[in-house]
Amino acid sequence: MHTGSAARGRPPTEAVEETPLAPHVLVVMGATGDLAQRKLFPALFHLWQLRLLPERFRLVCSSRTGPEIGDTFLPMVHAAVDVYRGTVDDAAWQEFSRRISFVPTSGDDGAALERAVAEAAKEVGSDCEILYYLAVPPSATESVVRMLGTFDVPGSAKIVLEKPFGKDLESARSLNETLHEFFEERQIYRIDHFLGKEAVQNILALRFANGIFQPVWNHQHICYVQIDVPEQIDVQGRVEFMESTGTFRDMISTHLFQLLGFVALAPPARMDADSLHHETIKVFRAIRPIDPERVVFGQYEGYRDEAGVDEASNVETFVAMEVYVDDWYWIGVPFYLRTGKALAESRRTITIGFREPPLKVFPGDVDDTCNELVLELTDDPTIFADVRAKVPGPAFGLGRARMRLALVEAFPEAEPLEAYERLLLDVMRGDSTLFISTEQVELLWRLCDPLLRNPPRPIRYPRGSWGPSEASRLPSGRGWRLPDS
Ligand code: BG6
Repeated sequence: MHTGSAARGRPPTEAVEETPLAPHVLVVMGATGDLAQRKLFPALFHLWQLRLLPERFRLVCSSRTGPEIGDTFLPMVHAAVDVYRGTVDDAAWQEFSRRISFVPTSGDDGAALERAVAEAAKEVGSDCEILYYLAVPPSATESVVRMLGTFDVPGSAKIVLEKPFGKDLESARSLNETLHEFFEERQIYRIDHFLGKEAVQNILALRFANGIFQPVWNHQHICYVQIDVPEQIDVQGRVEFMESTGTFRDMISTHLFQLLGFVALAPPARMDADSLHHETIKVFRAIRPIDPERVVFGQYEGYRDEAGVDEASNVETFVAMEVYVDDWYWIGVPFYLRTGKALAESRRTITIGFREPPLKVFPGDVDDTCNELVLELTDDPTIFADVRAKVPGPAFGLGRARMRLALVEAFPEAEPLEAYERLLLDVMRGDSTLFISTEQVELLWRLCDPLLRNPPRPIRYPRGSWGPSEASRLPSGRGWRLPDS
């Protein structure tokens, strides 16, 4: 019996051949906003430092703030990179920053931006690709798409959007129609940054690169799945976003359903966009209509006192729910999904619970929290199996033991990329495998709309707890898997 040992992984014997990236002009809309500052600029600078961006590269940034931001823009980006990606190497910053320009846009008038993009495209060369990144609030998305869609600039274009992709089926369709007026599906990249996480991609490697798991990856051997993403942080100044979006639209219909897709999809024929989207769509189609009786909404105590929150707000800051995938693989297996703000701990954990052996042959009681495969999808991804093992000694006593694989220990030389770094690179490579298609978005809204039209009333829960007790009772049997339980 092995416990707590991580095998040292060998790197692949042959490096994967990389086609050099085409020269790019990256246009960041909403460049003074939170997402651009916290994620995009630090990611781009790190890619630049790793020499993963093309040499011929320009970053044209825009926002609806006034032109006065011009002089302070570069110091703002420098500070963001410094805070969110660590100390900034001076020489690399000089090289990187001279590729950045800032052009304010006002209302729907993008004439100055259009000129700046055209100029940058001319500078980087005729084989240039333009990448529009929309880091704007959801309310601005459609008008920005319309503005960019009419730009007459050289080079082929791609557009990247952030969730939420609409707020229901109708608005998602309207947004998709607008997008398709100007861009073809292959030019559209909808980001769900969870899919950019190393640990999440490793779910696919674990399942489909080994012969051990797939034969038991079905209802005959698995009796439940838990996808648990509690967060300790509260709304943290994102009140306006939370009030208009809520936790279901922010986390469940996006990140948690995408994780469910990766856990439940059938083996794809190839690891490419078409095959993966095809299998994910089959899972989303097979999800049983959501039973509102098996959904718990919560709101943390004190949420209504946050500045900017309506004192009678019924916005949910917590969701726990049960979902079934009615196909040949998963019939009868409950998938429990849970996420929320101001909870006891921050985690991203997928737990696969295996059926008990058909016959009990060992004497004594057994620990019924064993028999689980646990995927910790943190930035330090770990997979472990909690199993029963014989306790060394003269009798056949059983104890709980753990087999553990930590990716960082297995591949100490590897250079993991942060989720946005990986996804930005993929867009530049033109690879949409880890992005969300129009069909997926519309299927998920079709599934979620009935519940959201008639949502459960949120139940109050104390900060620092695991949410309302009604949610704790949702999974029968072993309950929610808690840290180190
Ligand atoms: C974002 C949500 O998409 O994901 C946030 O809008 C959430 O509410 C965040 O906190 C969690 O992502 P991560 O990568 O920090 O776990």
